Amino acid sequence: MRAAILASGNGSNFEAIITAVKKQEIAMEVAFVFSDKKEAFVLERAKNHQVPAVSFSPNEFSSKELYETELLRLLEKHQVEWVILAGYMRIVGPCLLTAFPQRIINIHPSLLPDFPGLHGIRDAFFGKVAQTGVTIHYIDAGIDTGPIIAQEVVEILPNETLESLETKIHQVEHRLYPKVLAEISDNYKGAVK
Ligand code: GRF
Repeated sequence: MRAAILASGNGSNFEAIITAVKKQEIAMEVAFVFSDKKEAFVLERAKNHQVPAVSFSPNEFSSKELYETELLRLLEKHQVEWVILAGYMRIVGPCLLTAFPQRIINIHPSLLPDFPGLHGIRDAFFGKVAQTGVTIHYIDAGIDTGPIIAQEVVEILPNETLESLETKIHQVEHRLYPKVLAEISDNYKGAVK
């Protein structure tokens, strides 16, 4: 399957995915990495992996619709079939949702529907719950609300710190996202044959 990865920041999930792609654990070509933030470290990571890196900001457009139209043009030009969100800190609008129905996947650092939004790890930690986790889901028009594909629980221990919880969550993310993408790409390969 041919995919683009959208990210706004560090890009450690991109790193985990591209590493698995290179080991041929995921039957996926990464057409390009896109970031809405020009300074995002994920763009450096992409270049280090010889993956094309593209960046522009919604601020450069007069509306979100025009921003997404430009992004859609790019996705179509590269014949992208699947859009993988990996720390893309924006709500995806109708333009992309309509163009990629059930083909946009997101990772969220909590057990959805608990703790949606920008601060999933922090909110679970200060919410004093015993368990949180990682969710991989299709996106819809809501905030972290689309159909769930996979979840993994992470225990919050009595001596847990926010930092130790973040580390544990990211470790799970870096294992779970490549695994789920491998399954999706295998099913997709079977379906289009
Ligand atoms: C991850 O925790 C992901 O679940 C959330 O944003 C973070 C991105 O981290 N959506 P990175 O940029 O992949 O390191």
